[in-house]
Amino acid sequence: MTQKVALVTGSARGIGLATAKLFIEQGWCVAMIDRDGDELKSASADMSGAKPFVCDVSVPKQVDQMVDAVLSAFGRIDAVVNNAGVADFLPIEETDFAAWRRIMDTNLDGVFLVSQAAIPALKETKGAIVNIGSISGLRASTLRVAYGTSKAAVIHMTKQQAAELGEYGIRANCVCPGPVKTKLAMAVHSPEIISAYLDAMPLNRYGNETEIGEVITFLCSDKASFVTGQIIAADGGFENVGVGLPALRS
Ligand SMILES: NC(=O)c1ccc[n+]([C@@H]2O[C@H](COP(=O)([O-])OP(=O)(O)OC[C@H]3O[C@@H](n4cnc5c(N)ncnc54)[C@H](O)[C@@H]3O)[C@@H](O)[C@H]2O)c1
Repeated sequence: MTQKVALVTGSARGIGLATAKLFIEQGWCVAMIDRDGDELKSASADMSGAKPFVCDVSVPKQVDQMVDAVLSAFGRIDAVVNNAGVADFLPIEETDFAAWRRIMDTNLDGVFLVSQAAIPALKETKGAIVNIGSISGLRASTLRVAYGTSKAAVIHMTKQQAAELGEYGIRANCVCPGPVKTKLAMAVHSPEIISAYLDAMPLNRYGNETEIGEVITFLCSDKASFVTGQIIAADGGFENVGVGLPALRS
């Protein structure tokens, strides 16, 4: 089979689903991975070129079986998008160990496990890894001791992967989304948080899932063939620019 194959985790909804749809539009096949079997089944039902694989990315055995099943179904993997993620916004003192582990299991362990299991296949295709970080991994903020730290670790893991896997022709990059109105974000963004984000972002709006997917699919494509180890924010300008003191604005 010559068609390229992308493995996208957390693709039953949100940014992962939008990314899977873009890959299909761009002529790829997609292995859609999610632990929510019902949502995955309905999301993948009308997507020709995509196949669903139920898997919790934080469980090593499930990850190994999933990668084997993807290779049996498609015969190759050209890109891995580590997008599955969970969020919890809690003060440090209220972040008990179970809450900390819940975030790290998926956001950090999952990225490590899926990438590692796919390395032999990616060596064969000289493929690409795109990890999904967050502006919360680039800028410290209140209530994000677990979430922000997990995403900062993903940013560093991306650099490790680029350093170590480059000699096999495997590229690794990280996309850090700003706020996007998905189920994950709406569970933790109160109306106050939403208006504070709008106030602090030069583009003055939330992003949408497809805008993040476009950056992800670009980094997986041959158009980005000399790009590796990069951390790219798709965040409406939140991380690097900000809009300065409200009193100094017109
Ligand atoms: N939405 C935002 O504002 C925003 C901002 C920055 C970063 N992100 C990141 O983007 C990624 C996608 O987020 P989203 O907003 O689309 O979220 P979402 O909640 O809409 O989708 C996440 C998907 O991941 C799946 N998932 C969660 N844990 C899993 C696990 N252990 N194994 C397999 N599947 C699992 C869920 O079932 C769900 O389908 C996440 O990594 C998130 O941290 C989102």
